[in-house]
Amino acid sequence: MNVMIIGSGGREHAIAWKISKSSMIKKLIVCPGNAGTALVAQNVKLDINDFNKIKSLCLREEIDIVIVGPEDPLVNGISDYFKLQKELKDVTLVGPCKNAAQLEGSKDFAKQFMKKYNIPTAKHKTFDIDSIDNGYIFLETLSPPYVLKADGLAAGKGVLIVDNLIEAKKCLKEMILENKFGNASNKVVIEEFLKGTELSVFVLTDGSTYKILPTAKDYKRIGEKDTGLNTGGMGAVSPATFVDRFYLEKIELEIIKPTIDGLKNENINYIGFIFFGLIDVAGEPKVIEYNVRMGDPESEVVFPRIKSDFLNLLLGIKNGTFSEKDLHIDKKVAVTVMLASKGYPESYEKNKLIYLPEDFTESLIFHSGTKSKKGKLYTNGGRVMCVTSLSENLKLALERSLELSSKINFDGKYYRKDIGYDLINY
Ligand code: AMP
Ligand code: GLY
Repeated sequence: MNVMIIGSGGREHAIAWKISKSSMIKKLIVCPGNAGTALVAQNVKLDINDFNKIKSLCLREEIDIVIVGPEDPLVNGISDYFKLQKELKDVTLVGPCKNAAQLEGSKDFAKQFMKKYNIPTAKHKTFDIDSIDNGYIFLETLSPPYVLKADGLAAGKGVLIVDNLIEAKKCLKEMILENKFGNASNKVVIEEFLKGTELSVFVLTDGSTYKILPTAKDYKRIGEKDTGLNTGGMGAVSPATFVDRFYLEKIELEIIKPTIDGLKNENINYIGFIFFGLIDVAGEPKVIEYNVRMGDPESEVVFPRIKSDFLNLLLGIKNGTFSEKDLHIDKKVAVTVMLASKGYPESYEKNKLIYLPEDFTESLIFHSGTKSKKGKLYTNGGRVMCVTSLSENLKLALERSLELSSKINFDGKYYRKDIGYDLINY
């Protein structure tokens, strides 16, 4: 089979790596990819929101399956575009339609969906320019800290958690009246603060049934012991070791099933990944956010734990046999440590030469922001690459990843050494 993956991060490298191992793969293309995806696939430079170009490439390369990595093209309607093109009728696109992508693209849409289908989440209200005064009054009814979320996509920066009421009111004003996050904050969701442990749960669905992929915990803050600014993710562990079988069943019953049933009830034929960003509040799982894609760096621990041929699962979606396919998950724990550029998540420099050790059979390296020039490897982003290790033992997996991380060198390399530290005793 011929497969195309859209995107250029560590998530896409992890997906490409997994698919490249399938006995059924004939041609694997990543658009635009990075220096890591080039090791397992063919990179093609392309604007991921230029659907006409993607269509031409699909036809030229006789692509059977397209996997969309990031949310942007989904929110912009790539799935709907594919459905409208007669020539693409035999191409299966793994990713939801524009309407369903609103689960990620609009916090207000997601909240309304959860309310309608009784899916546990933080209490909330949404405000805009006409109702901003009610927003100030609503803030007064809450206790700190205050959670304010830009309704639309804001490059992962649209959530503010503020300690005092005066500051919260100021933020609300800046978001709605002063376009703090551009049009994304024309509407603002204000919600109750939930205290607990976060976890990520992923499913792959063909629109009718679903399979639960390995769980994960992401470490979002730049600093050790979860301090400092939020990032795209500085590391991850899979499974989220505090989630036992019974708790996962509870999540399935209270959150996953009602979501899948809700989508069907809305007449949405959702094909793709659903990423449930959850928080465990004293034994009760609640949804913090939906994403309509896989996580990054969660993918870099999730895919290495999938033992089954992942392309075979996708083939099941294509030919209607998804429910019959098995999904085997490795019992080992996977830990990934992200190597970032100094300054990230604020400003950082690119184009630093990267030295990789020759031999690293104990761990996997997934590239995020890298490029190659004349046979040499250079940094090309804030998050540069991550090192994943698997072991029966979380501490050992972390040690392996840290050891290899210490041997990879580039100017300004920074990484957290405490990924999974809170889960070691589970
Ligand atoms: P989101 O973009 O909705 O995932 O929010 C980004 C981060 O803000 C989450 O990963 C949480 O750490 C935090 N967060 C969001 N909503 C809440 C909430 N209601 N209570 C506590 N923390 C939250
Ligand atoms: N690591 C969080 C995300 O992918 O949204």
